[in-house]
Amino acid sequence: MIDYKKKIAEILCSHVTDLTAEEIEEIVEVPQDKSNGDYAFPCFRLAKVLRKAPPLIAKDIAEGIKDDPLFEKVEQVNAYVNMFIDAEEYLKDTLKEALDSENFGKSDEGNGKVITIDFSSPNIAKPFHIGHIRSTVIGNSINLIYRNLGYEVVRLNHVGDYGTQFGKMIVAYRKWGDEDEVKANPIETLLGLYTKFHQEADKDPELEDEARKAFVKLEAGEEEEVRLWKWFSDESLREFNRVYDMLEIEFDEIDGESFYTDKMQRFIDELNAKNLMHESRGANIVDLEEWGMPPALITKSDGSTLYITRDIATAVYRDEHYHFYKNIYVVATQQNLYFQQLWKVLELLGYDCYKDCVHVPFGMVSMESGTMSTRSGRVIFLEDVLNKAVDQTREIIAEKNPNADPEFIDKVAHEVGIGAVIFQELSNNKIKDYVFKWDKVLNFDGETGPYVQYTHARCCSVMRKAGEEVCAKAQSGDIDYSKITGKNAFELGRLLHDMPDVIHEAADKYEPSIITRHVVNIAQAYNRFYHDEHILTENEDEKIAKVALTIAAKNGIKNGLALLGMHAPERM
Ligand code: ARG
Repeated sequence: MIDYKKKIAEILCSHVTDLTAEEIEEIVEVPQDKSNGDYAFPCFRLAKVLRKAPPLIAKDIAEGIKDDPLFEKVEQVNAYVNMFIDAEEYLKDTLKEALDSENFGKSDEGNGKVITIDFSSPNIAKPFHIGHIRSTVIGNSINLIYRNLGYEVVRLNHVGDYGTQFGKMIVAYRKWGDEDEVKANPIETLLGLYTKFHQEADKDPELEDEARKAFVKLEAGEEEEVRLWKWFSDESLREFNRVYDMLEIEFDEIDGESFYTDKMQRFIDELNAKNLMHESRGANIVDLEEWGMPPALITKSDGSTLYITRDIATAVYRDEHYHFYKNIYVVATQQNLYFQQLWKVLELLGYDCYKDCVHVPFGMVSMESGTMSTRSGRVIFLEDVLNKAVDQTREIIAEKNPNADPEFIDKVAHEVGIGAVIFQELSNNKIKDYVFKWDKVLNFDGETGPYVQYTHARCCSVMRKAGEEVCAKAQSGDIDYSKITGKNAFELGRLLHDMPDVIHEAADKYEPSIITRHVVNIAQAYNRFYHDEHILTENEDEKIAKVALTIAAKNGIKNGLALLGMHAPERM
């Protein structure tokens, strides 16, 4: 697509001799208020050099460029040159790409570069609750966005399957556990055992000691401890997988923290060799006071390792194994400081890969019904939320399509119900805390997933009504765009034109909500176009041009939703 800023800079260049095209491009603005043009060039900076009043400079420039075919109109207003792009040219240029459903918004700039992304990463034997939706869905979308830009993305689930809590679990299971109960209801039973351990340990501190010993045995690879731990992990993962299946999210590796058991000693040795670690109250720490951070605890007095010990090994393993261009961690803001500590320890150890490690933090999600607390059992399971969304959507879809067959209703209910939850999750700037609201999620008219998907289905319906022949002509790109006028069409064209830039911005900022926002804008613009214009008119050329715009809008929505991890049903 034409880069209009660049093109305008080239045109202006021959009229503004004192600035280079690059400098002009920096100055060109996109006015908020479209009555000031699609692009504007402020002349203040030229006033000094030319020793002339800015409005006079603007007037001369406007006069000089007004006949260029790129513009429909050029105006001087005060110190500004306001430029209105020729709508026909603009649409032709934009739709040339937007009509290519396969490739619209894609690029190959990332070819040959590997990105590792660590997301979801829940803790074993703990409930997979609504809070986990954040890392899971944001991470998956960032993965899709980078993949779309040609990067090879490796999806890693760094499940929390290690640490002293597993010693507690082993002890609790031996004392109070029941095999069948764990099998029937793993997460709930294991969580119950874990809670019971804490209650009992308050009365009998001996238990803590036993748990520590059990974890040390686990780290040492003792058969019985390893067997139990492996079993707990497998049972938990089975539960997590049900949720991943519903969300249609896949991982390339589910190597939990335990995968690094035999990979940590190397770094403990290196820390020692470099004199970076010293003893403090029985534990081994790396002092980070010089950088204003609390110390990093590497091993406890009994020799057992910690979360950060495993993460040091993890980062270096990823670098040596995947040679990443970037290594992304999608983890809550609570761990901001933690990641700073991790990068610093890697730096001190001399591993430059820390420079390509990125922590993508996000805020908290809460439910309207109040705060959650794992200990008191007030937990909202993500699986329940997803099921409820599908069930409620099924009712709405069945009502809208009384004669549809159940299989169709079920498929759409899934795509729309799950999509609604994903969309709501990705509607918020990720760093902000937000409250999950049911009526907002499933509203077909708000700025929601169902609304956007419905608009996509509407585009498909217009295409069906237009018929194959008209669609084929529209698709060919041989279109008389002068037949569509009006600001709705142009506004829609502009949004489609911006789509590739928007995807880049979302990638650069690790912010899927930028895409969410943009597909809402496309959907709203299309709906205005749809309501104000008669699309399937008698005039054949006009009809073809309007159907072309419809196909382009459909592609924009569909490809945008795909980057969020959502389907775009053709009927609903
Ligand atoms: N399991 C951790 C938690 O629930 C998140 C792990 C993130 N990844 C990492 N490499 N530290 O807090």
